[in-house]
Amino acid sequence: MSQNLGAECDSLFDSDETLISEFAELWDAASDLWERHQHTPAFHGYVSADYLAVCKSLARLRGRVLTVLEWGSGLGVTAIMASRMGFEAYGIEAEPRLVEYSETLARSYGPTARFVQGSFIPDDFEWNPAEGDEANRTIIDAPSAYDKLDMELRDFDLVYAYPWPDEHTLYHNIMRHFARRDALLLSYDWREGTQLVAFRDC
Ligand SMILES: C[S@@+](CC[C@H](N)C(=O)[O-])C[C@H]1O[C@@H](n2cnc3c(N)ncnc32)[C@H](O)[C@@H]1O
Repeated sequence: MSQNLGAECDSLFDSDETLISEFAELWDAASDLWERHQHTPAFHGYVSADYLAVCKSLARLRGRVLTVLEWGSGLGVTAIMASRMGFEAYGIEAEPRLVEYSETLARSYGPTARFVQGSFIPDDFEWNPAEGDEANRTIIDAPSAYDKLDMELRDFDLVYAYPWPDEHTLYHNIMRHFARRDALLLSYDWREGTQLVAFRDC
């Protein structure tokens, strides 16, 4: 894996071989956790993104955003990569066991990434099916976790998320109602790859 990764990421990281090989190790460690625990309840709503695609998108945003929040951070790989790329990175994850796994990975690969357990949906969010709010596997009944970070959604320059296919509208609506007007949403979808959405004019 490291050799392919090195070739593809060379231009992104200005030949920062240490960072590239550490990311390869991080991805392998995350895959190993998935292999060992995928059948436990914590992983019910979990599927991992294409880390290389997300990594490349993040690399393009360096110098443009500082604070990055991974919604539904799972094993925390994106937040950890972001922290190592110079962003101030956070993750919110509803499943306590996944938060523990992400903290374990962070200790080895990105100790400044911070993770909290709870929901990324702000408590004040009002569901409106007429606006297209629909959830599939996103957990909708957990208390919001922003207080644990002592932050609000409007404090983040960039949110990264991997919604289920029919949940993009819900995620966009949460951004529209609670994020800053200049905030960006980077989403990953196995069909579409990564997409960067700005809400300034919505
Ligand atoms: C599709 S996985 C994405 C994992 C990781 N972010 C990635 O891109 O590889 C979605 C994650 O969101 C978590 N999740 C679902 N609803 C949530 C909520 N309301 N608040 C926080 N996490 C949630 C799930 O437990 C799961 O770990």
